[in-house]
Amino acid sequence: MLLENKQVLITGAAIGGIGEAIMNKLIKQDNLILVTSLEMSDDRFPNIESISADCTNKDGIKKLEDWIKTKTGSIDVLINAIGGSLASKNPLEIESNFLNRVIKVNLTSAVLLTQMATRLMKSGSIVHIVSTSAYEASLDKMSYGIAKAGLVYYIRAMAQVLAPNIRINGVSPTYVFTERHNQELKQKAERTGISLEQLVSDRMAKQLLKKPLLPDDLNEMIEFAATTPLMTGKVLDASLGRIY
Ligand SMILES: NC(=O)c1ccc[n+]([C@@H]2O[C@H](COP(=O)([O-])OP(=O)(O)OC[C@H]3O[C@@H](n4cnc5c(N)ncnc54)[C@H](OP(=O)(O)O)[C@@H]3O)[C@@H](O)[C@H]2O)c1
Repeated sequence: MLLENKQVLITGAAIGGIGEAIMNKLIKQDNLILVTSLEMSDDRFPNIESISADCTNKDGIKKLEDWIKTKTGSIDVLINAIGGSLASKNPLEIESNFLNRVIKVNLTSAVLLTQMATRLMKSGSIVHIVSTSAYEASLDKMSYGIAKAGLVYYIRAMAQVLAPNIRINGVSPTYVFTERHNQELKQKAERTGISLEQLVSDRMAKQLLKKPLLPDDLNEMIEFAATTPLMTGKVLDASLGRIY
């Protein structure tokens, strides 16, 4: 099922990331795309309506909502790809500031954006990008896992609030070889002397299907989650058979 001729808001469109990949696909299908990130420079997507907005607080959400009202007045679909683990930490030494920051970026933003989307759509659909970290005890990314697990709960619970007119679902990827991750892996290879091939293979070690997951690979599942009328409150697994 394809998204066509819809007004789609994509949040968190990092260059070479998951949000940008789905944005590029949906543009080709004649959807009207609005896009936001934390720091959106004018030259990032010169032909697309875009704005910078911090979606972790009410001022940023208001700025985004006011802007959408001037552009389209409403949206049909929200695809939210804001998030990130921010840093690795010893689980016994996580400070409250760091935990709060990770929760704000991964969970508070999703809550505020969902509320905003419901004000901007009479009927439609919301898709949040979750992570396998929501289900897996990835110890140095504990704060991220807590936040994404909270997002899974939120999606399941909000489906009951938003039905029958608005559907809310998630897509949960394993490690994605985004542009940012590729850069980090190259730097790590230079720093440690471990070969890039080994680092890539390590990232796929828990996957049954030994293929690097690329941002574009997620497009089909994100679009399915956004369009199928048969599902709400569910998180689709995009883990290439990851063993938890
Ligand atoms: N990459 C992976 O391996 C992976 C795996 C599983 C799940 N995910 C999830 O997939 C989503 C996309 O990840 P990604 O790797 O493609 O992108 P990313 O490089 O992690 O970028 C995240 C995006 O979030 C935006 N952002 C961060 N804080 C924000 C804030 N306060 N307000 C508004 N926007 C904010 C960033 O804006 P700027 O562009 O302006 O910095 C960026 O566009 C995230 O939710 C991530 O947790 C990623």
